[in-house]
Amino acid sequence: MAEFKDLFQTADWKKEKHVPAIESPEKCKKGESLKVTVTVGKEIPHPNTTEHHIRWIGVYFLPDGEKFPFQIGKFEFASHGESVQGPNMSTVYTQPEVVCSFKTDKPGAIYASSYCNIHGIWQGMKKLSVE
Ligand SMILES: [Fe+2]
Repeated sequence: MAEFKDLFQTADWKKEKHVPAIESPEKCKKGESLKVTVTVGKEIPHPNTTEHHIRWIGVYFLPDGEKFPFQIGKFEFASHGESVQGPNMSTVYTQPEVVCSFKTDKPGAIYASSYCNIHGIWQGMKKLSVE
């Protein structure tokens, strides 16, 4: 039986459409607001249909040397084309892209996770330095 942590798949987000791409400054100033954009399918679009879509993205920050990450935000995507007329009939689809902000005095790593309804859980990471 696999450990839960082994179910988090990863790859280069430029080559694998499921990996959440994290866009943020390489460095920030202590206590200054830092904007983070997380997108699934940035380089290679992921399907967005009633049958196959991204359900959520989570964003976390782990300060260097610490054990427990802090959750910055969790974003649920609720419209996947379904309507009273049937699958893919509404033409309304939530796009799997989120923008959030946080501040920290500590360097560390931003982690993002995402969930595809048929291809499971994916993760991405980007380092952050503080000056
Ligand atoms: Fe997928």
